[in-house]
Amino acid sequence: MILQEDMLIVSNINIAPRVFRMVLAGEIVSDITAPDQFLHIRVPSPDKILRRPISISEYNKTDKSCVIIYRVEGPGLAVVSDMQAGQTLDVMGPLGNGFDMTGPFPNQKALIIGGGIGTPPLVQVAKDLTATGIAVTVLLGFAQQSAVILETEFAAASSQLEIVTDDGSYGQKGNVGLLMDDLDLMSYDAIYACGAQGMLKAVANRTETHPNAFISMEARMACGMGACYACVVHVAGDETGQKSLKVCDEGPIFRVGEVVI
Ligand code: FES
Repeated sequence: MILQEDMLIVSNINIAPRVFRMVLAGEIVSDITAPDQFLHIRVPSPDKILRRPISISEYNKTDKSCVIIYRVEGPGLAVVSDMQAGQTLDVMGPLGNGFDMTGPFPNQKALIIGGGIGTPPLVQVAKDLTATGIAVTVLLGFAQQSAVILETEFAAASSQLEIVTDDGSYGQKGNVGLLMDDLDLMSYDAIYACGAQGMLKAVANRTETHPNAFISMEARMACGMGACYACVVHVAGDETGQKSLKVCDEGPIFRVGEVVI
C-alpha cells in the first residue's frame, strides 16, 4: 500500500562531497516489499512543487527505520540536506517494484554491480542475499576516491568486494566493465545492477543471455505512481516504437533486454 506521511528524520549527515545519508522513521517502512523501492519526497519549500524520488538504501522493519542516500544536484535537495534530526519530511511511498529476490537460493552465488550514486539501494540487496547464505560478489565503480561511499556496508554484506575509480585514485583504475570481463558472468545465478546509463549498458551488453540479470533504471518523474507517463522507457524489440513501460510503477527494476537503456 502506498502511504503519505510525515516521516521523522532520525539523522542526516554528509558522507561525501554533496552526498548525504538520512535515516527516516515511519509507518511507510512496514509496507516496503523489496530492495530498491523508492520514496517520493516533498521538499519543504513552497516553490518546489514536484516531489523527488530517492531509492531506499536499507530498511529495518523492527524499528520502522530506513536509510536514503542522496546527492545534492540542485536547490531542492539542498534544502533537504539542511534539515535536522527531529524534523519531519513529507514522504510518499513505498513506490516501485523493487528487485525480484525470489532467486537465487541458498548456496548459490550472486553478482552485484553498482556505480556512483546508484550504489545505495544495492546495500539491502547484498544484505538480504548474504543473510540467506548466498555468496555475494560486489563490483563498485566511482569517479574518484572522494566519491567512494558505502564501502564498509558492502564489505560487511559480501564475500568479495572490488572497487574501481575512473581516475585510479582508489582501487583499480577503470570502470566496472573491466572487472566484469574478468568474471564468468554465467556462473552467477543472479545479477543485480544499478548505476548510470552507461554502466547499465555495459552490464546489459555482457548479460544479454543471462536468465536472471536485473537493472534498476532511472528516469525523470512527476507523479511517481503511474498516472502521468513522465517516466516511460521503450520496450526493447518493439519496432513500432510505441510500447513503453513506466519506470515509477512498472520499474524501476527490469530484466536485462526488457527495455531500451
Ligand atoms: Fe508519473 Fe511515472 S512519474 S507515471
